Formats: sequence, structure tokens, C-alpha cells
Amino acid sequence: MSGDTAANVVIKPVENEGELFQALAIREIVFIEEQSVPESLERDAEDAQAFHVLAMAGKHAIGTGRLVSLPQPPAGEQGAWGRVGRMAVLQSNRKGGTGSRLLQALEAEARRRNLAGILLHAQLSAMEFYKRHGYEPYGAVFEEAGMPHLEMKKRF
Ligand SMILES: CC(C)(COP(=O)(O)OP(=O)(O)OC[C@H]1O[C@@H](n2cnc3c(N)ncnc32)[C@H](O)[C@@H]1OP(=O)(O)O)[C@@H](O)C(=O)NCCC(=O)NCCS
Repeated sequence: MSGDTAANVVIKPVENEGELFQALAIREIVFIEEQSVPESLERDAEDAQAFHVLAMAGKHAIGTGRLVSLPQPPAGEQGAWGRVGRMAVLQSNRKGGTGSRLLQALEAEARRRNLAGILLHAQLSAMEFYKRHGYEPYGAVFEEAGMPHLEMKKRF
């Protein structure tokens, strides 16, 4: 942490283009620079439709994540489902609860939309984080953006 306790971090929905740019800037630092994900994979068409959240420490964005509605439920499930992705907190701000609060905000939006559950592709390194939030892994490990991932889901 760089002096920002979780208590003075505000989680807010992205409401305009400027805030979307802030979210994309966080993702650029975390995914493209830190994790070497190709830019062509990091940015996709879903950004235009997604519900994005930002974690703000004062005027500085320190984290982001997004929720998209899936066109169909995952295999074996029913109803409308969402997919959480692009969860990113700047390195020096991690392990202070910001990622958890971003995820909770995305889940609150999913419940508001009456979604039946959330699916995500977790990097193996983040699996414990999602397990703590009630997500269960299923299926085999697969490679995405050059890193091992596992599909996880949470039924509301
Ligand atoms: C995954 C990620 C978003 C989590 O963000 P975060 O702000 O560190 O999340 P939290 O602080 O809520 O939780 C992270 C861990 O810190 C721990 N933690 C939370 N508050 C803490 C505190 N005050 N003191 C010590 N540990 C704390 C949590 O127990 C949690 O442990 P876990 O990983 O074993 O579940 C962040 O690590 C990240 O951006 N990683 C790189 C990008 C990435 O991999 N994204 C996920 C793609 S699937």
C-alpha cells in the first residue's frame, strides 16, 4: 500500500469517457506492462458495452474491473449470467481489500440486473482470491493471454 487505506478508497461506476480512459490506463499498467499481455488481446469490443468500476484514492485511479452480460448461460446453468473480468489493482495498492471491494461492486450490479450468477476466467495466481469470494473452479486449466487460467463460477 502506498498510504491509501481501504477506508479512503472509493469504488465508483465508470460514467463517462474520461473515467473509462482511467480504467484502461490501470489495465495497461497491470496487464500490458506488468504481465506482458498483448495490447491486441487486452482491449476488446466488450469494453464499449461493459459495466466498469474504478477504485479511486483521492483523484488517483488505483483499480478497475468490469462486468459483461453473457449471451447465454454457461453449460449446465440457466438464466442470464454475467462475466467479470479485467480485475486489476496497481501493484503498490494490493492486499488492502481494494480488489475485494471492486468485485463486490460488480456483484452488486449483477444482482441488480437479476443475473443468476457470474462466470470468470481466473489466472491461477488469483484463484484463492476468487475462492474467498465464493467462486468455484471447474473444468481444466487452459492458457489465455499466455498465462494458465481456470474457469470459475458463482451462482447467486
Ligand atoms: C487480483 C487482484 C485484482 C486482487 O486485488 P487486491 O486489491 O490485492 O485484492 P484484496 O486486497 O481484496 O485481496 C487480495 C489478498 O489480500 C489479502 N488482504 C486483503 N486485505 C488485507 C490486509 N489488510 N492485510 C493483509 N492482507 C490482506 C486478502 O486476504 C487476499 O488474499 P487472497 O489473494 O489469498 O484471497 C490484484 O492482485 C491484481 O490486480 N493482480 C494482477 C492482475 C490479475 O491477476 N488480475 C486477475 C485476473 S484473473
